[in-house]
Amino acid sequence: MIYNAGYVLPGLALFAALVLGPFLLAAGGPYRPPALTPAEKGVSCIEERAVMAAGHRVLLFAWRDAAVCRNSRLYLASDGRSWTVSLEGTCLACHSRKAGFCDSCHAANLVTPSCWGCHKAPEKP
Ligand code: HEC
Ligand code: HEC
Ligand code: HEC
Repeated sequence: MIYNAGYVLPGLALFAALVLGPFLLAAGGPYRPPALTPAEKGVSCIEERAVMAAGHRVLLFAWRDAAVCRNSRLYLASDGRSWTVSLEGTCLACHSRKAGFCDSCHAANLVTPSCWGCHKAPEKP
């Protein structure tokens, strides 16, 4: 038996609510991905959606190295289609609303790619 359980237990519950409450509120529940503006054209991405979502960083850095170090500007995707290696001319031609696509997802994930000082997005409103 807990001594004075009638007071101790509600007291503990109140303490927990006061201490943990702000953290639980700040966490705001499970992660919800932001709404993304749809691609300008094409029914699918260069690689499958899940591959792109998890691996576009790796793909983009491989593209940069291929173009800058080996002047290799053709990318053969796993479904056999070939693409011009170009951040602006290929990715952003389809994802032309960068603010509602790249930027909003990066903001939600606290990522700030440092590409846009040099690469320019043909931004659409
Ligand atoms: C031909 C048009 C086209 C090109 C080029 C293209 N995308 Fe996509 N992308 C799409 C479409 C359409 C989707 C929607 C999902 C799908 O593929 O089923 C998509 C999905 C994505 C996703 C996943 C978003 C999500 O829902 O999680 C990412 C990330 C992405 N693209 C990044 C890129 C990057 C980076 C490039 C350049 C390397 C690129 N895309 C090139 C059309 C394109
Ligand atoms: C669905 C969410 C989502 C979308 C849409 C998205 N990104 Fe990302 N991006 C991320 C996340 C999360 C990371 C960090 C994790 C990682 O690198 O895989 C990231 C990382 C990156 C990085 C690496 C940054 C670094 O310094 O390491 C680049 C470059 C990048 N994204 C470019 C793009 C471009 C360009 C687009 C639009 C064509 C785009 N992303 C669309 C979620 C997204
Ligand atoms: C200091 C300036 C600078 C920054 C920052 C920069 N780049 Fe580049 N990037 C260049 C230059 C210059 C080229 C070579 C242009 C060419 O030969 O077509 C290039 C080429 C590329 C290419 C291949 C050619 C093309 O037109 O897309 C890719 C892909 C690329 N960069 C991706 C990235 C990504 C992703 C980031 C951010 C993580 C980034 N770059 C940041 C200057 C920069």
